[in-house]
Amino acid sequence: MKRVFSGVQPSGDIHIGNYLGAMRQFVALQDDYECFFCVVDLHALTVPQDPVELRKNTIELAALYMAIGLDPKKVTLFVQSHVSAHAELAWLLQCITYFGELSRMTQFKEKSKGKETVSVGLFTYPDLMAADILLYKTHYVPVGEDQKQHLELTRDIAQRFNNRFGETFVIPEPMILKLGARIMSLTDPTKKMSKSDADPNNRINLLDDPDTIYRKIMKAVTDSETEIRLDWEKKPGVSNLLTIYSLFTGMEIEEVVNKFKGQGYGALKKELAEVVIDRLSDIQKNYKDISEEEVLKVLREGAEKAEAVAVETLREVKEKMGLILFH
Ligand code: AQP
Repeated sequence: MKRVFSGVQPSGDIHIGNYLGAMRQFVALQDDYECFFCVVDLHALTVPQDPVELRKNTIELAALYMAIGLDPKKVTLFVQSHVSAHAELAWLLQCITYFGELSRMTQFKEKSKGKETVSVGLFTYPDLMAADILLYKTHYVPVGEDQKQHLELTRDIAQRFNNRFGETFVIPEPMILKLGARIMSLTDPTKKMSKSDADPNNRINLLDDPDTIYRKIMKAVTDSETEIRLDWEKKPGVSNLLTIYSLFTGMEIEEVVNKFKGQGYGALKKELAEVVIDRLSDIQKNYKDISEEEVLKVLREGAEKAEAVAVETLREVKEKMGLILFH
């Protein structure tokens, strides 16, 4: 069975961008691949986190993985910091990554823009992500479009390692959706929807209540025209709403456009709100039934399964790099 790895950061409330762009794919993959899905808490630490919030968000994200339909009997669900091989391999990979490569990463440029100080961890984040993926000899990585550049770097690093030290890593392929790989902010549809955006109205969280979802969608920024059509350049707000509608209903975009032809933005927003409320209610119902105790049990077992694979790869890497092993 080919392997799949992906992770989500417990850096805030999980939103429909995370879900439609990445997490929903995980569920579809669990029957056909050997899957490792991770709560990447070490990545979250690259920007300041409140320790109490980080712990809460970690449990919440793991419970959401289960609530969206991931079956812990089929997939390995775990927390990144529970498998220390991630941090260790990240260091080894940093030593074969060039400063210039990391300097070119657009996520680093965006996240450090305007900040007086940024952590070194934010700069070297792509090496930790490469370690996450390469440790499991992953074939496919389902992610949103914003992670494409990091995936390309991961492939370069894996190839470089294999060339220098001998065939070790599988060269992973990204799995990026054609539609939904970049869900945009509701308040500024030229930017992606994001957990860390200061304005909570930019995103719809998976656990938002119906009133909040309705209010956020009705307030979503559109444009001064009235025509409903897909036009990312001139009408990014409307195009984003059409995309979300299409993804949640399974209707083709053209069908959605035809459905709302001649109607105003208000009608589109109202129906979209109903659809989103309905689809998220299933996830929310499942979420309510999952206890923290159950989550911790799944994570403990997941960490053991992940560790068993990760330590083998780490051993192989260390040996090939010339580090002495005692066993
Ligand atoms: N707006 C988005 N549209 C589609 N996919 C998205 N993803 C994130 N935002 C969108 C995908 O969700 C997965 C998990 O993301 P992450 O937690 O690793 O962090 P991120 O990509 O940096 O997402 P956020 O929400 O913007 O988090 P913060 O604000 O903490 O940085 C990834 O596969 C990502 O591509």
